[in-house]
Amino acid sequence: MPESDFIPIRTPRLLIDEFKTSDYARLQEIAFNINHNADIHAADGYCPFYTFQVDRGTPNRDIIIRQKVSEFLIKADRERRQEPRSTYRMAVRLPNGKLIGNTTVDMLPIEEDGKKIYGDLGYFIDPHYGEHGYATEAVRGLVHHFFKKYAKLDITAHPANKFSRKLIERIGGVQVGYNEASHYGHGEPRAVFEVHKADFYRSCAFNKQMPNLFTVLINRQKEAALQK
Ligand SMILES: CC(C)(COP(=O)(O)OP(=O)(O)OC[C@H]1O[C@@H](n2cnc3c(N)ncnc32)[C@H](O)[C@@H]1OP(=O)(O)O)[C@@H](O)C(=O)NCCC(=O)NCCS
Repeated sequence: MPESDFIPIRTPRLLIDEFKTSDYARLQEIAFNINHNADIHAADGYCPFYTFQVDRGTPNRDIIIRQKVSEFLIKADRERRQEPRSTYRMAVRLPNGKLIGNTTVDMLPIEEDGKKIYGDLGYFIDPHYGEHGYATEAVRGLVHHFFKKYAKLDITAHPANKFSRKLIERIGGVQVGYNEASHYGHGEPRAVFEVHKADFYRSCAFNKQMPNLFTVLINRQKEAALQK
């Protein structure tokens, strides 16, 4: 299995690593929470993650949600074995290991309608841990590695997905188009965004601090050399 040189990722409050088979029960809980949240907060602009989305009233809804969770974990395992690896479908955990969400990025471009799409970011957070900045922190932690290779990331979101749009804007994204039907999300419409590397780092206080950190380290090395 190809090893990644940047996984696991540690951010100030999170651990981002691979999914495990033992994540099934907790992931199922999150998938149910997401669907339940969509049932009661759709009017507030909350949309379910299309991968786990099963509309209210669907016969055998719970069974279908469980199937989707299994498929998600099987996909994550298959993607982990890709050579070269393209998709990084990552588990987002608290430092104690508790799974609270996901962030996924494609490191190799995808062809859609003859156009190359870079990044194709995805994410979800357990609604019980929402609105604490965890999703944004996880996305920043992973996308930082994407921008080591590329200068622009493409991302789409359902036009009604207020919380996803806000996250995209928080990481420096701007809407550049609109697709009436996309192969993502059951052919539903998608707002098309781009995040440029410079805007990503401008928007990110954590990464903005990095140059200062390097300056401190370089100055320390200079001081040590002077004292020899
Ligand atoms: C999209 C989604 C991940 C966004 O989740 P979220 O909880 O809004 O995002 P974050 O975890 O980054 O939290 C951000 C909010 O926490 C607030 N916050 C609270 N405490 C904070 C802290 N300590 N640090 C940073 N932000 C904090 C922020 O101010 C922000 O709120 P605001 O937008 O009102 O300013 C979530 O709605 C979701 O899982 N949706 C279902 C799946 C989905 O739609 N995925 C996207 C498909 S395109």
